Amino acid sequence: GYKGDSAILELPEHSKGLGQPVAARAYGEPSKFEKNLQRRESPGLTRVAAASVSFAPLQGLFGIITPNGLHFERHHQGWWDIDPNQHRLMVMGMVKQAKVYTMDDLMRLPSMSRMHFIECGANTGMEWGNVAVPTVQYSHGMLSCCEFTGVKLSTLLDDCGFDRKNGKFVLAEGADGSSMTRTIPMDRALDDVMVAWAMNGEMLRPENGYPLRLVVPGIQGVSWVKWLRRIEVGDEPWGTKDETLHYIDLMPDGTHRQYTSIQECKSVITTPSGGQTLLDKGFYNVTGLAWSGRGKITRVDVSVDGGRNWKTARLEGPTLTKCLTRFNIDWVWNGGPAVLQSRAIDETGYVQPKINQLRATRGTRSIYHNNAIQSWKVAESGEISNVQIY
Ligand code: MTE
Repeated sequence: GYKGDSAILELPEHSKGLGQPVAARAYGEPSKFEKNLQRRESPGLTRVAAASVSFAPLQGLFGIITPNGLHFERHHQGWWDIDPNQHRLMVMGMVKQAKVYTMDDLMRLPSMSRMHFIECGANTGMEWGNVAVPTVQYSHGMLSCCEFTGVKLSTLLDDCGFDRKNGKFVLAEGADGSSMTRTIPMDRALDDVMVAWAMNGEMLRPENGYPLRLVVPGIQGVSWVKWLRRIEVGDEPWGTKDETLHYIDLMPDGTHRQYTSIQECKSVITTPSGGQTLLDKGFYNVTGLAWSGRGKITRVDVSVDGGRNWKTARLEGPTLTKCLTRFNIDWVWNGGPAVLQSRAIDETGYVQPKINQLRATRGTRSIYHNNAIQSWKVAESGEISNVQIY
């Protein structure tokens, strides 16, 4: 007969013995049972791992904050652990007085903390032509969200007396070998751009730009220059390699669009998602993330029948501007085939498009700025896979 659950009936070792002492691990780390939750590379995506990307495991994250050790990485020429005592930021160009700041100089200035998402413009880029990757980690994992702390870029520009009449653009340059450089229009630079040294309450991680990076809310990740060493004020865009050749949108007629930097409204169901298996029919919490580079998320709808019928999901507050928003919705799986989708709407009224709507204007051979509705197919076996619904 039934003997009962030994996990309940027998007193385990940890209820009888003495546990680990404090500070056994001076910097804490996750449980050994969570080892499978890792940033992962997509094998063969790039030729060298120093010019590559690691994807955040969105399927295993809760709420909206990405733990620092799981933040996605995108390096053009590898990452460095730069000595903050040696690091300098130069502000120059069309300013009354060019200045060189040490980290100490910067950290004395009025600081602020803001929660924002960062998404690489290439996120979901492999899916333009067809289904390419099996899991949400690979389809949407060039996405993270942190509380960033730093000084407003406008504070530094004011400090150097930038030319308010003719200074129309700002150039940001990184200290790594890729000399990552991006132009930012002055109105945006003066709005919510930050020069940040911290994420999620501690100094930036080396992989994410330690000791200094630019935070450009709502804009594709490439403009969030890491290991930031130089800000230049100018009167026209620089047209650097990273804005004229890379991070441009290839259009169906063969031309390409430049400076399409805003990450448009997008969402994805993270659980249940591709590669996972439903154990049995019955109740499931369907959860995911929504975000918009233009402001706040106002609504997320979820479909379980491939977009025929939609129900509005619960948004977990606070819904912040240019920040991830977590949504949840109840679902009772009847054991039959289903296709799960989410569709986000932002405060401008913009509605996340279907893949065929996006392809109608953008074609199938682009890389960047794919914000299409994602479809996860649930088979009768419970297995979930990535599909595209037209
Ligand atoms: N800044 C420098 N200096 N070098 C880089 O290679 N990569 C950019 C941007 N800033 C990059 C950089 C790109 S393409 C992206 S998507 C983001 O950093 C990624 O930031 P993360 O590695 O912190 O996720």
